[in-house]
Amino acid sequence: MHGDDVRTIREERGLSQTEFASWLNQQLNRKYDKQKVSRWENSSERVPLAVVGLLAESRRQSRPKGPALVLAVANQKGGVGKTVSAVNIATVLALQGYAVLFIDADPQANATLHFGVNPYEPDAVTGKPRPTLFNALKTESSYDLDDLAIRVGELNIRVVPSSIQLAEIEPDLMVQSGGEHALKERLGTCRNRYDFVIIDTPPNIGQLTKNALTAADVIIIPCQTAIFSVVGIDFLLRNVNLTKRRSNPRLAILGILPTKFNRRLKNDVATLDDIHKGFGKHLRIFDPVPAAAIYDQTTASGRAAVEIDADAPGVAAYEEVAAALIEERSKRLETVNVA
Ligand SMILES: Nc1ncnc2c1ncn2[C@@H]1O[C@H](COP(=O)(O)OP(=O)(O)OP(=O)(O)O)[C@@H](O)[C@H]1O
Ligand SMILES: [Mg+2]
Repeated sequence: MHGDDVRTIREERGLSQTEFASWLNQQLNRKYDKQKVSRWENSSERVPLAVVGLLAESRRQSRPKGPALVLAVANQKGGVGKTVSAVNIATVLALQGYAVLFIDADPQANATLHFGVNPYEPDAVTGKPRPTLFNALKTESSYDLDDLAIRVGELNIRVVPSSIQLAEIEPDLMVQSGGEHALKERLGTCRNRYDFVIIDTPPNIGQLTKNALTAADVIIIPCQTAIFSVVGIDFLLRNVNLTKRRSNPRLAILGILPTKFNRRLKNDVATLDDIHKGFGKHLRIFDPVPAAAIYDQTTASGRAAVEIDADAPGVAAYEEVAAALIEERSKRLETVNVA
């Protein structure tokens, strides 16, 4: 959370810096003062995570909820930054006070682990293996996704976990009639309890990715700015168009998000240029997320880079994606209201 956000929230509440410090002290049992608030607001000191969590929650309470805009983060190429992007976009939205449901639809369970949930540990209360997305997608399942969702951290993000067992659902979905609609069906009414649903997908265009595309309103395509990364995008776009035509006419492409960009490397600069030349006419190309150690370091930390360091390189790019999602959601809500 940036200093400007702290100032905005304080001013929205009509509080002076002294009154704001005293409100925080009451809520969090701390001893902050006017000087401290001032240092947060002018970004000379980082805002503590407990304060970030409290402020995000207070923003959330002042916003109307649902129906959620559903985002699929997809690219069949592996290691391009899908999971890191999905987790950071979800966190930016939650920091802004939105209620987010995160669905890990990748059997690798990287996002589940990134959020600090170990799907292989038994549930602390029941002692039984934790139910995951696998349990919800089985034909005879009666799980609502909300039954499976685990609240993570202080922000308003709930995660539907994955585990390697999810790989077993692929053949099952293939033989279920309308198998690509299973996730959409399971999302059902819980769409009304969130503002955004973010789905992380595996590095292939199998049944799980098709389920994500069928459940989604929009897709974002992270694309690493590395040699050969652009090659598969046409193939992915053809699949997106097929899904749109055959099973999900609502589906739109939010854009391509270049990732792991190193502006000092000729190859990265050339690939970014290829992305713009190849797709920029028809699709939005977001500003690239730079390659930065913090993204690698946070993948097993339980928190996203954008929450740990609001000034990390790439935060602005993820905020731009979040702003595009917020705009898309408002547009769709207006259409629903007019109709
Ligand atoms: N901006 C970045 N800077 C540096 N490293 C990054 C960045 N984004 C992602 N990474 C690292 O790159 C690797 C791949 O990222 P990530 O897991 O998000 O890709 P993915 O597309 O989800 O992979 P998979 O296809 O296996 O699901 C990870 O080790 C991650 O920490
Ligand atoms: Mg991944």
